[in-house]
Amino acid sequence: MWKWLKQRFGPQPVATPTETAPVTTVPDTSAAGPVSEPDPLASLLPFVIRPLDAGDIDGLMTVFRDAIQVTAANDYDQQQRDAWSQAHDHNSLADLLAEGEVMVAEWEEKPVGFAQRQDDHINMVFVHPQASGLGIATLLCQHLEDSARVAGVASLTTHASLTAHDFFTYMGFVSEQREEVQRAGIALPRHFMRKSLQ
Ligand SMILES: CC(C)(COP(=O)(O)OP(=O)(O)OC[C@H]1O[C@@H](n2cnc3c(N)ncnc32)[C@H](O)[C@@H]1OP(=O)(O)O)[C@@H](O)C(=O)NCCC(=O)NCCS
Repeated sequence: MWKWLKQRFGPQPVATPTETAPVTTVPDTSAAGPVSEPDPLASLLPFVIRPLDAGDIDGLMTVFRDAIQVTAANDYDQQQRDAWSQAHDHNSLADLLAEGEVMVAEWEEKPVGFAQRQDDHINMVFVHPQASGLGIATLLCQHLEDSARVAGVASLTTHASLTAHDFFTYMGFVSEQREEVQRAGIALPRHFMRKSLQ
């Protein structure tokens, strides 16, 4: 099924709409940059982008852990991935996601990605490896960016993993410094990045 989705929506342009659930998108109002125009394929994708639901946490734990263990494997070794992926259990993730704004990407009633904004900070963006490269993180962050603009936020920041650096660059963020965070005594390099919304 994932293979079908990647074949249909991944590398090739889509010519015909599907009959699956429509994606809900918020037009980006930025004046310039790669996300200034709504993706013309967005309305054709079989994803729903929606707010967090109380029943999502188990599914989001899977997304969180698999994204780290699989997608981040090119940038972090096994010890680093274990320390990072074990930073949260069900309860701590539920507590964290109870704050700020959280958008979830759902496909066939299953969470495949999520992103969180706390005030002027994008705190989390994770997409399941089987759903990567389809524009899901872009859609999630476009929603968070749009709500930040409505809230009058002047700029957004994030601590981007090495894996997410190119994604955030694509979204218009600029690295201000490389830094390290400690997880269970293991150092994880990352970038502090910012995007002006003005
Ligand atoms: C980073 C992440 C959220 C991106 O999710 P995604 O849904 O695959 O991203 P998108 O499909 O929206 O990517 C949009 C663009 O970002 C860029 N991009 C995304 N991932 C990239 C990668 N690994 N390498 C280079 N460019 C990348 C590309 O330009 C891409 O556009 P393209 O596919 O047309 O070339 C996902 O890879 C992930 O969960 N990574 C592991 C966990 C992680 O590091 N999370 C961030 C913590 S700060």
